[in-house]
Amino acid sequence: MSLSRRSMLKVSGAAAVAAAGGPRVQEAAAQEAVRGEPGSWGWVRNLFDLTPDSVHMSAMLIASHPRPVRQAIEEHRRGLDLDPVRYLERNNNRLTAAARQAAGDYLGVHSSHVALTDSTTMGVGLIYSGLRLRPGDEVLTTFEDYYVTHESLRLAAERTGASLRRIALFDSVEEATEDEIVSRITSAIGPSTRLVALTWVHSSTGLKIPVSSIAAAIGEVNAGRDEEDQILLGLDAVHGFGVEEETFFDLGCDFFMAGCHKWLFGPRGTGIVAISERGLAAVRPSIPSFTDDAVFTAWLKGADAPPGGNSGPRMTPGGFKPFEHIWALPEAFALHGQIGRARVAARTHDLAGLLKEALGELSGIAVRTPRDPDLSAGIVSFDVEGTHPDAIVSRLRRRGIVASVAPYAVPHVRLTPSMRNSQDEIEQVAAALREIA
Ligand SMILES: Cc1ncc(COP(=O)(O)O)c(C=O)c1O
Repeated sequence: MSLSRRSMLKVSGAAAVAAAGGPRVQEAAAQEAVRGEPGSWGWVRNLFDLTPDSVHMSAMLIASHPRPVRQAIEEHRRGLDLDPVRYLERNNNRLTAAARQAAGDYLGVHSSHVALTDSTTMGVGLIYSGLRLRPGDEVLTTFEDYYVTHESLRLAAERTGASLRRIALFDSVEEATEDEIVSRITSAIGPSTRLVALTWVHSSTGLKIPVSSIAAAIGEVNAGRDEEDQILLGLDAVHGFGVEEETFFDLGCDFFMAGCHKWLFGPRGTGIVAISERGLAAVRPSIPSFTDDAVFTAWLKGADAPPGGNSGPRMTPGGFKPFEHIWALPEAFALHGQIGRARVAARTHDLAGLLKEALGELSGIAVRTPRDPDLSAGIVSFDVEGTHPDAIVSRLRRRGIVASVAPYAVPHVRLTPSMRNSQDEIEQVAAALREIA
């Protein structure tokens, strides 16, 4: 197979990456078990304990923990197992704040605007069910959004009397354009539209929507509206988070919900929500926070919770948690910072581009994900003529390639090259599909 973009995948700045690494990354680099030049893609791959006889291309489902994350979890687990109460008392405030800070730094938002959750699903559910919607308000979403958004909005509409409207973002995903997507949304917005709820990278087709252009168009509509009638933009961001470089402000949304246990390769069972100033005023918590002192202190004094003052900590669901996983979050952000976010983004796009190119050369395969890197990220979806996606995934698994099927009414086969995959693995996948298709 000729891979014309091969040269784009050369490692650069690898040594500098390791030198700039945090203590756990430097420690990991120093250990013989982590083979490869520190910072190289081989080195990144070896930070994961993934079985070497398989091609793991389902990063979008659930993370394998890279070594620095694994080590932090083990350290905290040991501390909690030895002396749970005193370890918690000594560490909880500091380490939980550090996790929120690391997420805020990564997204370019103040940590007081970041809530910690278990998952994308929890974040989406908390935000949409906590939104102050009035009867008669309209919530706008798309047919292409995922179950988590649809179901959260259905529950929110049922509870508040708001109406729910779905539109199609495109006629054909392969031919979708930025202008078409933006104009379909703006022309669907009506006087009562109060929320536009979207997904950054669709897990069915791999389409990445132009969030900042959509936010700018919504901003123009909002300029002519009173504050309480303004439209908020919510985003299930999970399949762009840990891949793309945009900050929260670059995107321009009000609610950014993502699990950390997919492309970020953070601890399983962790997630974040970033909320704009306007968003904080429009949403209220559903689950009591354990990290908002004002509310807790008021309760201790038998007083009412102070009005207003919503924040990321107040939106963070309380209760005792698998703390060792939350406390290991900074290691995941640090690893991305140390490898370089631009390098992670370029690597993911390059591998996905190579895969699309290779699949495009095979007869009988229809690639659904747009080729344009501005309209796609790491998810690559395709169909094999005449064969159900489940059957293709089974055949790939028999060849040691872990793909998955998009759980949508119209299913596709999905492969998700990420920073832990290699060019050779893309070639293996292409060779397997050449036999299968
Ligand atoms: C678009 C989308 N949102 C949310 C989820 C669920 O994410 P989490 O496991 O973080 O709740 C998935 C898939 O697992 C997804 O594809």
